Formats: sequence, C-alpha cells, structure tokens
Amino acid sequence: MPSVFESAPAAPAIPITFVTKATWSSLSATLPAEGRQFAQANGYAARPGECLMLPALDGRIAHVLFGLEDEAAKWRDPFRPGQLPGLLPAGVYRFANAPHEPRLAALAFALGSYRFSRYRKNDAPDVRLVAPDGIDIAEVSRIADAAALARDLINTPANDMGPEQLAAAAEQLAGRFGASFSCITGEDLLAQNFPLIHAVGMASPRAPRLIDVCWGDPAHPKVTLVGKGVCFDTGGLDIKPSAGMLIMKKDMGGAANVLALASMVMDARLKVRLRVLIPAVENAIAGNAFRPLDIFPSRKGLNVEIGNTDAEGRLVLADALALADEEQPDLLIDLGTLTGAARVALGPDLPPFYTNDEGLALDIARCATAENDPLWRMPLWPPYDSWLDSKVANINNAPSGAFAGSITCALFLQRFVEAAKSWLHVDIYGWTPSAKPARPEGGECQAARAIYKLLTERYG
Ligand code: BES
Ligand code: MN
Ligand code: ZN
Repeated sequence: MPSVFESAPAAPAIPITFVTKATWSSLSATLPAEGRQFAQANGYAARPGECLMLPALDGRIAHVLFGLEDEAAKWRDPFRPGQLPGLLPAGVYRFANAPHEPRLAALAFALGSYRFSRYRKNDAPDVRLVAPDGIDIAEVSRIADAAALARDLINTPANDMGPEQLAAAAEQLAGRFGASFSCITGEDLLAQNFPLIHAVGMASPRAPRLIDVCWGDPAHPKVTLVGKGVCFDTGGLDIKPSAGMLIMKKDMGGAANVLALASMVMDARLKVRLRVLIPAVENAIAGNAFRPLDIFPSRKGLNVEIGNTDAEGRLVLADALALADEEQPDLLIDLGTLTGAARVALGPDLPPFYTNDEGLALDIARCATAENDPLWRMPLWPPYDSWLDSKVANINNAPSGAFAGSITCALFLQRFVEAAKSWLHVDIYGWTPSAKPARPEGGECQAARAIYKLLTERYG
C-alpha cells in the first residue's frame, strides 16, 4: 500500500486549518479578506466535519477549513480528520494548526484514505498529507498498513478468501518477516487431534486447516494470538436467515485482525516470541455436515455436544486455544466474530473483552482509549458457567437460553485455557456497517491497534 504521507512535496502543500465553533470567529479574522468573505458567503459555521475550500484569486485552492468538535464538547471524535481524504480533491495537504490529537488525526487521515480496490481500481482518493511535525510517521504508517491488511482480508469475498487463501495470506506475511509457517489440513487434523476444527470444516469442499506462524527469539516472553478464521458462516444445518448470512464473509475477522496485529509486532521487532494460530474453515451445509446433538471429542479431551451448529466459532477456537495453552504462553489472546449477543449488548463499534487478569484489564482498557480502538470489559461470570452443562457430554456449545450469549461464549472458551499465564478474549465485530470518520464501510481493524499498543508498552 503506498503511503499517504509525503515527506518532500514538489509543490507547496495546501494548508488545512482546524476550526471549532469556539475558535472560528478569532481564526476567521486571521484569513485574507476575500477568504473570510468566501466563508461567510457560504454560511460556513465550523460545525464538526464541515469542510470548506477557500479559493485563491487565480481559482486554485488556497486553504481548507475543517470543523472539529469544541474543546468543551461532551465527546470529541479524535478520528474526525479521517473524513478529509473523502472530501478533498487530489493534492498534497498539510495541517496548518494542531487538531485535538495530532497523532490520531494523522492516523485517521491514513485510515480514512483506505478503499477496497481489488475488484474496482482507482476508487482510492489521491490525497496526500505532509507528515506533521513531532509524529513518529513510521509507526503511524505501520498501524495504517496493518489496518489495510485486516480490511482487505475481510472485504475479500468468500469465493476468493477460503481457508486455503487465508492460509496463503498468513504464509505471505510470515515470508515478509522471516517467520516460520506450517499448516495442518483436512484429514490430518483428525490424525493430529484437532477434532473440532475438522468437524466444523468437513462439509466444505474447501478443506479446513490450522495455520501456525511462529516468529522471534525463543528466549523472549511467549505471546500467542489465536484468530477465528471462519471464511464463511452459513450457520451450518442450523442455517442462518438470509439477512443474518449476508455479511458472513467477515467471519474470519478474528484471523484478519490477529494477522494485522502480528504484522505490527514483527515490523516493530517487539521482544516477544510470537505465535499465531488460525483455525481456518468454512461452516458449510452438505450431507456430511456436523449436526445438532452430535458429540465430538476435542483436543483438550472434553467431549462437546453440539447444541447449535451456528455456534461454530467457539468450537474451532477451542482446539486452537488448547494447542496454544500446551506451551504455557505468557500471554494468550484470542479474537473472533463470535456472537450476535455482543452486538446486542454493545453495538458494532465497541467489542467486549474478557480476562481474569486485573492488571491486563486495566492496561488494555487504557490502551484502547488511547488508540481510539475502543473495548469494553465484560465479566467471565462464574455463576453462568453451569449453563454450558450437557446432559450427556462434558460441555454443550450453545446454552438453550437466549441470555448473556457473549458471556457464555467466553466461558466456553475459558474451559480450554488452563496453563496460559494470562488470557484475553475479545468478541469483535470486524465490520463498519456505515461509514464513519476514518472508518469506510466494510471490513474493520478492531482490537488489534489497542493490543499492539499494550504489547509495545510491555515488550517494546
Ligand atoms: N459468526 C456468528 C456471530 C455473529 C453473527 C457475529 C452476526 C456478528 C454478527 C457466530 O458464529 C454465530 O452464529 N453465533 C451465534 C451463536 C448462537 C447460535 C449460540 C449467534 O450469535 O447467534
Ligand atoms: Mn455461526
Ligand atoms: Zn461464526
């Protein structure tokens, strides 16, 4: 991805002045008379997101005004400047004054210029920004590039992003950073004791697989990332209605985001021994599909009764988490698009996270806020654990009641994690339903930026 940041512009960059309702009157007084007149004639009021291009006397753009929330506003969107690439004509621009949070504003500018262009070229705005002073632009670019990777993987439709292609993307990333790559595919999953990954993926002609990427000094702390890689979720025999199935190409959003996170970690050379595990499957429908009330063994040894074939994500994660847990990682993190219930509770933009590590909970919440990659803690509520009881097996994958669906999913996963020193689970959405500043509609990088910040603090 070409960088949106310009270090040596050929021509003078067009200044962007950030204004708020409170600063507009004093700022407008500093404009040339004709600029002030033009803004007034256009009724410019410096509302948040309001953009006005002031012409020079020769008709070129002399100056851009862009409205931000007032300093005193209840809430200011630090990504507001991410609207600019979608509003500005092609050209090179610079910040003439400081937005509320200059680093996040520069990041928002980069995130906001992303377009999914695999099937239709030239949609991306040809807008560039002179790197603002005092900002680590290499770091901002690293984050923006990782976000673009996550978005591209999620936006790619399932016909071109099956388990094999997801593995190829992981292998390509591994190759870029000299990481090792291995993959257990199809019947080999049974031979090597991954019964649940096999059960969920076996009805698809596109064989299920477990992707394993490893990087870094083995003497460093072990950080293992596990991402749900369901390349398409029909629901299985418990088939989803069409409205619910529509965007299920995004059901590998956990995998996309752990790959994005891994790319940042490796590019920044953090002092960790990184491992990335991705169970990649398609939850398809066929005569050999797994069925409601089937019972399968799991890698951990627990027999799992299938209450619902649409609760497939926790099944494939269970086997991958069990494998991760075997080497007692210092930090085990899993991301997945696991439940509709998480959206009912918190909506698409605020994924719930779960951990019993109080220090980790405080750190990740702070990092999430700092990076404007919001996360909200929900409890691993022990009294609900018995809801997972099966009458005939060790555990059921889908409690019959409709309550607390994201919590019971987290409790299910917790049964497969024992030895890891610290565990974090995030129930992400991985999708922006309608465009917001810096967040074009479609696949989204979620939780990866917040976790990257945490890892840089601990292992930078
Ligand atoms: N991939 C879905 C979760 C999902 C659905 C995320 C819609 C975002 C939007 C997951 O595999 C699923 O189907 N979960 C079920 C679990 C239930 C059957 C216990 C759900 O949330 O309905
Ligand atoms: Mn499902
Ligand atoms: Zn799913």
